[in-house]
Amino acid sequence: MNGRKILLVVGGGIAAYKVPELVRAWTKAGAEVRCVLTEAASSFVSPLVLQSLTQAPVRQSLFDPGEEGQIGHIEVADWAELVVVAPATADLLARMAQGMANDLATTVLLATRAPVLVVPAMNVNMWDHAATQANLETLRERGVLVEGPDSGELACGWEGQGRMSDPEAIAARTSLLLGTRSMHGNRMVVTAGGTREPIDAVRSVTNRSSGKMGYAIAAEAARRGAEVVLISGPTGLATPAGVRRVDVETALEMRTSVLAEFDAARIIVMSAAVADFRPANASDRKIKKEDLADGEGLQLEMVRNPDILAEISARRDQRVVVGFAAESHDVLPAARRKLARKGCDLLVANDISRSDAGFETDENAVILLTPDGDTEELPLLPKTEVASRILDRVEKLCGARE
Ligand code: CTP
Repeated sequence: MNGRKILLVVGGGIAAYKVPELVRAWTKAGAEVRCVLTEAASSFVSPLVLQSLTQAPVRQSLFDPGEEGQIGHIEVADWAELVVVAPATADLLARMAQGMANDLATTVLLATRAPVLVVPAMNVNMWDHAATQANLETLRERGVLVEGPDSGELACGWEGQGRMSDPEAIAARTSLLLGTRSMHGNRMVVTAGGTREPIDAVRSVTNRSSGKMGYAIAAEAARRGAEVVLISGPTGLATPAGVRRVDVETALEMRTSVLAEFDAARIIVMSAAVADFRPANASDRKIKKEDLADGEGLQLEMVRNPDILAEISARRDQRVVVGFAAESHDVLPAARRKLARKGCDLLVANDISRSDAGFETDENAVILLTPDGDTEELPLLPKTEVASRILDRVEKLCGARE
């Protein structure tokens, strides 16, 4: 956390009394902290206490010439590496979801490009309300991260979900989010999800890839400070914080997007399940069944898609290229052959015959293979952890190529 810049936006809720403890945990760990309070927040926590703990002016007003003269509100938004909203009241979440900028706190939240972590705290019924949940969903879709709330006895006398997470838990989460910066300065392209190849106006050929592995890699790389472009097939997953996402459908679109990002990339991770074949003549109208009798066949001609991984591996120069292999039998020999055929620097092999790993699950058991014959078999791990192990190897490969 040493020297890392955290902007704390404090909402007006009773849980704000825990905020000095949180700030203390951060400053003890060496972080630089600045605080912005909503008007209501200063009724629950003293700005002077926060000013003393952070040794920096506490800002409360958008229109105070004195405050604005010292540090402009956009400057505060740009300064932050991470923005934490704690406590995030129902009102503040609603205003964030609406994109409002009617006070300093919401203006800064709208202007910042840093990842935002919200730590909700409110009465259980306010938390359960459909409006609050819809606002949170909107924020999540935009990449806002959420910590808590916990369940238990609430300050208002009710019991249930709505307690702000403990300062210790928030500090642990933020230290994780700020990450190591070990990939700072590297542009990385990650492909994820399955492609969708149209048959006609309503039907397509696709596969069972959920995209979770690729999204976990993109999230972890961003956490390590890489500039990440995620080229994604249709998935329904939220874009990880700090990641630029490019949506594609077909293998040909994916190839075009990968090639467009290729020159500027240092690392390319092809975790997408790219369809090997596409219907040769996709119809832009719906194919009708009325001309066919029951049991009568419909011929669908398929043609091979370009192999994106092989193509980029062949012209990679100093870039580090990682491929994936989905194998259903003889995993290791098949993966070794695939590595040789594709010509990438690291191959991540999945045994897709396992029901507890691979497609659509949150865990994965993979084997990492390199061209020098090295093989590392990882145990069954959460995909987030697998992502971390893959990136440790990628960092080593980048280091060796410097
Ligand atoms: N891949 C690709 N372009 C394709 C097919 C696959 O870039 N047209 C990439 C995938 O993103 C993955 C790797 O190649 O990183 C291996 O994918 P996989 O489906 O396991 O291998 P295939 O090349 O399709 O070989 P096969 O289906 O014969 O096992």
